[in-house]
Amino acid sequence: MIKFFIICFILIFIGCGGNKSSGQSEAYYRGEKIYRTVCLSCHNLDPRKVGALAPDIAGSDLELIRSMIMTGKHPEGRIKKWPDHQMAALPNLKDKIPDLHEYLKTFK
Ligand code: HEC
Repeated sequence: MIKFFIICFILIFIGCGGNKSSGQSEAYYRGEKIYRTVCLSCHNLDPRKVGALAPDIAGSDLELIRSMIMTGKHPEGRIKKWPDHQMAALPNLKDKIPDLHEYLKTFK
């Protein structure tokens, strides 16, 4: 009987290790999913590259991402990569901002 428990514990351990070894946090994967379903229609699949309708945004900081999503505008005093273009706000994604940041910060 005790052997059974030991084996169970080992299996649980291996299970946890497996999840961690995949490298990225859950927030990263949530962010990646949103990026690929929403942002991808304008930005590039690879956020380091320029997209069909919008610039590269890899490594954008939390303040910039929040501002773009909530207002469609840059925080005051920030230089726009594409000064002649405008992004529509996507305030329904308010809760996803930290996940998007987690995803975008892993590039660069
Ligand atoms: C309908 C097209 C469209 C969608 C969808 C879109 N964007 Fe944009 N985005 C733009 C355009 C156009 C610009 C350039 C205009 C600007 O910077 O004001 C831009 C600029 C940005 C910038 C600023 C880049 C810089 O450094 O100047 C960030 C950050 C950004 N987008 C994040 C996102 C995120 C995150 C998503 C997904 C939740 C998203 N965008 C979805 C069109 C889009």
